[in-house]
Amino acid sequence: MTRHRVAIALLFFAAGCEKPLKPGDPVPKLTKEQRDRFARGKVVFDSVFTPETGLGPLFNQDACGECHEDPAGGRGDEVEVHATAFHASPPNPPPAVCDPLAQEGGPVIQLHTTPALKQALGIDQEPFPPSATARAMRTSPVIFGRGLLDLVPDTVILSYADPSDKNHDGVKGRPNRFVDGRIGRFGRKGFVPTLREFNAGAFGAEMSVTNPEQPTEETVGGKPIPAGVDPATDPELSQEALDLTDDFVRFLAPPTPLKAGKDGRHGRDLFSQIGCATCHRPLLRTGDSPVAALKNREFAAYTDLLLHDMGPDLADICVGLATPADFRTEPLLDLRGAEHFLHDGRATSLEQAIELHGGEAAGARDRFKTLSEADRAAVVAFLKSL
Ligand code: HEC
Ligand code: HEC
Repeated sequence: MTRHRVAIALLFFAAGCEKPLKPGDPVPKLTKEQRDRFARGKVVFDSVFTPETGLGPLFNQDACGECHEDPAGGRGDEVEVHATAFHASPPNPPPAVCDPLAQEGGPVIQLHTTPALKQALGIDQEPFPPSATARAMRTSPVIFGRGLLDLVPDTVILSYADPSDKNHDGVKGRPNRFVDGRIGRFGRKGFVPTLREFNAGAFGAEMSVTNPEQPTEETVGGKPIPAGVDPATDPELSQEALDLTDDFVRFLAPPTPLKAGKDGRHGRDLFSQIGCATCHRPLLRTGDSPVAALKNREFAAYTDLLLHDMGPDLADICVGLATPADFRTEPLLDLRGAEHFLHDGRATSLEQAIELHGGEAAGARDRFKTLSEADRAAVVAFLKSL
C-alpha cells in the first residue's frame, strides 16, 4: 500500500465511513458464505451458453454478462426489440387492454437463432408478431442495486402514488401490477414484481435456457419449436445455478456516488428544487430480509418505482397496466460512464435526456430549461457524480 492509500484508508477508518463502492462491487457486510455465492453466481452470469448447454433455438445473446457488462451488471450496447398490442377498448377512457402477444412470440422478439433452427425453418430471427400495435427498442440497462429495490416495501411505493394528482403538481404516478395483482417494479415498464422472477425469466426470454422456475421453451412466433433442433434436456439450468445467479444480481451494490464538488452539490439542490426528485426519489429504504446486509438499508435510488406518463414522443408499447406513454422512473445509477440514455438510448447526453422528458415530467423539464447555463451545468455535474 502506498503512503497515500494508507492515508485514505485511515481517513475512512477515522470517519467511521464504509469504503466507497465501485460499480460491480457486492453490498458490504455480506457473510463469508454470501460473498462466496456472489463470486460463484458471477461465474454463471458470465458463462456462455451453447446449443449443447441449452442456448436457443431462439436467443438474443449467449450470456447475461454479454449485455450487462464491464463490469458484470453494468450497461451493455445490445438493443432488444419488444412488441405488444394495445387496445384502448371502448368505452374510452380505459379499461384498456394490453396483449403481450404470447401466442405470436411476444413480448420479447429474439433476434438470433441457432444453426439448427435456421436450417429447419430458414429464419435468422423470431418473426415480428403480426398483431403488434407497436415496436419498442430497449437498451440493456445497468442492474446494480436491484436487490435493494426488490426489498422496498409496497407500502412505501404506494405512499408516493398520486394517480389523480391531488396535490396539483402535475405529477401523478401509479404502480404497475402483474397479472395476479401484485405490484410490479422491474423492467422499464415496472411489470415484474420480484427480482427472482425477472432473473429466472431472463434465462428464458434472452437465451431460451429453461430452468425449474421457467420450465417451458420459448416458442417460435407462438408455434412450438420443430422436433430435434434443441438437443439439451430440460431444465437446461439447475436450481443451484439459478439460485447462484439470483444471489449475484441481488448482492450487486449501487455504486457510491462520487464526491460532488461545489458545482455538484449545487446541482443536487437544484435537482430537488425544480422537481426532479418528485419522481427520482433520492433515498429509499429496504424493509425486512433474511439477508442482514440488505435489511433496513437506506440507499441512493433516485426512483419511486412508479409509472409516469412521459408524453407521446417517448411512447412505444404497453406492458400490463402501463400504457404506451407510461414508464417506470428510471433509477439514476452509475451515470458517470454512460453514453446513451432513456429506454431506447436515443439521448446521447444527459442534457438531451432531460429535454426529452414530456408528459408528467414537462414541468420539471421546463424549469430545467429556464435555469442559467451555469445552473444547468451544475445539474449535469451532479448527475455525472452518480
Ligand atoms: C440480449 C441482452 C440481454 C441479456 C442476454 C440479458 N439481459 Fe437483462 N436486460 C436486458 C434489457 C434490454 C433489459 C430491459 C428490459 C426492459 O426494458 O423492460 C434487461 C433488464 C434486466 C433486469 C431488470 C432491470 C430493471 O431495471 O428493472 C434484470 C434484473 C436483468 N436484466 C437481469 C438479467 C439476467 C440475470 C440475465 C441472464 C439470465 C440477463 N438479464 C440477460 C438485456 C439483456
Ligand atoms: C414525472 C416523473 C419524472 C420527473 C419529474 C423527472 N423524471 Fe427523469 N425519468 C423519468 C422516467 C419515467 C424516465 C425513464 C424514461 C425512458 O426511459 O424513456 C426518466 C429518465 C431519466 C434519465 C435517464 C436515465 C437513464 O439511465 O437512461 C435522466 C438522466 C433523468 N431522468 C433525469 C431527470 C432530471 C434531471 C429531472 C428534472 C429536470 C427529471 N429526470 C425529472 C421520470 C421523471
